[in-house]
Amino acid sequence: MKRSDFPMLGYGVGLRRQHYSHVLETRPRVDWFEVISENFMVAGGRALEVFEGVRANYPIAMHGVSMSIGSTDPLNRDYIRQLRDLARRFEPAWISDHLCWTGVGGRNLHDLLPLPYTEEAIGHVVARIREVQDVLERPILIENVSSYMAFADSTMTEWDFISAIAAEADCGILLDVNNIFVSAFNHRFDANAYIDAVPAERVVQYHLAGHSDHGTHLLDTHDHPVCDEVWALYERAARRFGAVSAIVEWDDNIPEFAELAETADRARMIFNDSTEESRKAALSADHRA
Ligand SMILES: [Fe+2]
Repeated sequence: MKRSDFPMLGYGVGLRRQHYSHVLETRPRVDWFEVISENFMVAGGRALEVFEGVRANYPIAMHGVSMSIGSTDPLNRDYIRQLRDLARRFEPAWISDHLCWTGVGGRNLHDLLPLPYTEEAIGHVVARIREVQDVLERPILIENVSSYMAFADSTMTEWDFISAIAAEADCGILLDVNNIFVSAFNHRFDANAYIDAVPAERVVQYHLAGHSDHGTHLLDTHDHPVCDEVWALYERAARRFGAVSAIVEWDDNIPEFAELAETADRARMIFNDSTEESRKAALSADHRA
């Protein structure tokens, strides 16, 4: 797969319950919505009516939290089939989930937990992504999670790990810029090096979000505005990767919809400014030549 296999949806918002009525009633100006797949895996009722109403007016992508692609438990094939059925009905531009595990031994830990960055883990996850993609009949995107602990067994960087998995499974990457920043602080790695190393052709979407600062560590709480350092990292990504669809995630202390839409517009402006700068730089280089 390559990014051009997917549409450029523009700058959108992660749809949350607090804004269902506002979105349905006022059809705010925003390019697209990312929906949490599990919220709509129901037999009927209000949730599916909301999904239908939103889908009638906006492009959407489906983002899941339960695939547990990194676990050693068997893949939940019922869940994957439900995901496929939901996708057949609502035709999302793509389906994504996290490069993590959420449970083991049949127990759900309700958290997105990191993997050891080893060749063995790459082989394990790649085989499972391929199985999921066979059932879904499409490539998926995998998202980098934020983390607070690392495995002593890891033999490579996180960016080498996710890049190798995406290449071998032939899937896309959902780059969460805030998660890179949070993990870079917590593990003392260089966030810029991460952006510079990820294969450009596989980056199909960004997440932008806020976190909370606990002094010794950052916590990925999605309850604050996007901070200046994350905007700077996004700008670096925008210059390197070109036009990539983005959404704003906010899950706690959720503001009025207008603030989310303004944040999405800021992402658009930063991208537009970065291309304008590149154009001017190219023009002046031509002039000198
Ligand atoms: Fe995210």
